Amino acid sequence: MKDKIEKLKAQLLAALKSAKTDEIVRNLEVDFMGRKGQFTDIMRGLKDLADEAKKTVGKLANQVKTEMELAIQKKYAELEVAELGEIADKEWIDVTVPGKKPLVGHRHLITKFMDDLEVIFSRMGFAVAAGPDIELEHYNFNQLNIPPDHPARDMQDTFWIKNLKETVLRTQTSPVQIRYMEAHEPPIRIISLGKTFRKDSDATHSPMFHQCEGLMVGENISMANLKAVLTHFMQQVFEDPSIKTRFRISYFPFVEPGLEVDCTCPICHGEGKTENVPCRLCKQTGWLEVGGAGMVHPKVLENVGYDTEKYTGFAFGMGLDRMIMIKYRINHLRMFFENDLRFIQQF
Ligand code: PHE
Repeated sequence: MKDKIEKLKAQLLAALKSAKTDEIVRNLEVDFMGRKGQFTDIMRGLKDLADEAKKTVGKLANQVKTEMELAIQKKYAELEVAELGEIADKEWIDVTVPGKKPLVGHRHLITKFMDDLEVIFSRMGFAVAAGPDIELEHYNFNQLNIPPDHPARDMQDTFWIKNLKETVLRTQTSPVQIRYMEAHEPPIRIISLGKTFRKDSDATHSPMFHQCEGLMVGENISMANLKAVLTHFMQQVFEDPSIKTRFRISYFPFVEPGLEVDCTCPICHGEGKTENVPCRLCKQTGWLEVGGAGMVHPKVLENVGYDTEKYTGFAFGMGLDRMIMIKYRINHLRMFFENDLRFIQQF
């Protein structure tokens, strides 16, 4: 019987040694130690032994039983450690590897530029006003002293909206002047930024472009104020305090006198050349045209019910697309509209 017990133990130990899974160990446990297991069978045989033998064999049986149970527990523990090790190997990550930056969108250069202009003008006390892109002829033309038969309408190749009478895509930001003056009393100081539309379309003109309108109306507003504001503005935009501006006489129906505004070329600093290389941007003139301006025509002030004896004002309108191209050294207008991420991500 003693032999039987030892043999059973040896069998179990051998079987455990080659067991690879929890399930196999559990089967062995049942097979050897369970209620109907082989070892339990032997234990049951003890009662048939003689008293003396019962004592010695019983002692051995108990001792071996403990050993076998311990061996099983030890195997369970071993398998668990092995399994954890395997998980650790499989799911190992290097927490010191640098992360990948997620792609984050940002404002388009044109939008960013317009936001920058708002900051520059707000520091000079200008509020920001807005008007609709789809505008009434009344605001885009009539109120600005451009009646239906006025030849100045031909200056602006207008998109008329089909089936909507007297409605256009605004050809300029100037209608915002009218909308704002109708709703406010002087003194006023505003800019308005946004999209404008005209029928030209070639390498240097897009049918949709951007303008910045300015308007200041109050008592004793003069052309000197206009010049000071525009000069400071151009210096801020090009981050160059040496920039100068000049006015040339021109014509816009809603201002009198009307002016073209030039600033010294930010590339050659008004020299017309850089280190003897002729400046291509300003065609060696040293000046760039940046927009139109003038003193608000009394008729326009009358149209919105302002007292023209008391109030005067100036207005200006500038194209932004070319200004952005010059500032950021962009060679082709189409870059703005192609949505090429390699371009967009640079700004
Ligand atoms: N609205 C004019 C244009 O688009 C520019 C301008 C604005 C001129 C204000 C004078 C005063 O050409």
